[in-house]
Amino acid sequence: MKRIFGIVLVLLLAMGSFAFAQQKTLVLYGSAEPRIVEKLAQGFEEATGVKVKWIRMSSGETLARLRAEKENPQADVWWGGTLDPHSIAALEGLTVPYKPKTWDQLDPRFRDPIGGQRVIGVYVGVLGLAVNEGVLKSMGLPIPKGWNDLTNPAYKGLIGMANPNTSGTALTMLATQVFLRGEEGAFEYMKKLHRNIANYTKSGVAPSILAGRGEIAIAVAFLHDVIYEIQEGYPLKAIAPVEGTGYEIGGLNLIKGAPHPELGKKFMDWVTTAKAQESMATVGSYQLPTNKFAKVPSVAIPIDSVKTVNYDFKWVAENGVRLQDRWTREVFTLPR
Ligand code: G6P
Repeated sequence: MKRIFGIVLVLLLAMGSFAFAQQKTLVLYGSAEPRIVEKLAQGFEEATGVKVKWIRMSSGETLARLRAEKENPQADVWWGGTLDPHSIAALEGLTVPYKPKTWDQLDPRFRDPIGGQRVIGVYVGVLGLAVNEGVLKSMGLPIPKGWNDLTNPAYKGLIGMANPNTSGTALTMLATQVFLRGEEGAFEYMKKLHRNIANYTKSGVAPSILAGRGEIAIAVAFLHDVIYEIQEGYPLKAIAPVEGTGYEIGGLNLIKGAPHPELGKKFMDWVTTAKAQESMATVGSYQLPTNKFAKVPSVAIPIDSVKTVNYDFKWVAENGVRLQDRWTREVFTLPR
């Protein structure tokens, strides 16, 4: 009898702790730098007592994961990474709209880029170039001023960018060329640039690290990442392309069929507060916050100080997958 009682007790305890874990652990997919995702996960745990299990994947990788998990979603919320894959996920019915409690505090220019609260904007970052001047000087090569200079054959094998299928940074770059040159012009440009590319990486931040190490000379990168790398001691220069450039709005999305939607919403309410957004700079994340009350990091690049293209987030939401496929077929497969 004692033994049966013991077994029942153990079972009850196990069930209880399972239910507790189910109820209390938020599953977060994050697509900005891991140190930032970790910082926010810790901040949320401290503020609410809710445990967080987080995984960092590039924006395109996260979209692929959500598609694969469609019938059995594993995560509650997706924070960070460029807006476009978030928007594509929303249009594919992989996420559900949610209006966070902080709505009125969020800058109307960035909080709801495709409408209907389908993706909430959490930060803004300007796209540009990370240039290792030392490498270029040692080879007697000029410092590029913008996108057009990058097709100079002298840069063959010296430029890095990510793959637009996996990286939101690279999809931003591809769409930026469309907004600068029209779609046909953009693909002509990407084909010429392809001849100079050393390597297409999976994640958007990797090429600037390679440039910092001198393994390549020029990288397509978000300028806030380049600023962080310069602070870390990498010999890089951040360049905003003269022709005009694109920018990202970081996305935030509640996953459809999330195991813990209430926790997901709670996280969305918290992560859009001024306090949470401000905490990002403490780990070297220098995007512009979208909460109007959050302090802007002193080294951040104000979006108004840069010549930007008219980046149409709705257009990219609708055409992003087509652009990725076209790039794979017409550019990636070409010899270099
Ligand atoms: C870095 C940047 C983020 C950006 C992200 C996109 O982490 O700091 O601002 O959203 O890259 O990552 P991905 O690997 O998808 O290009």
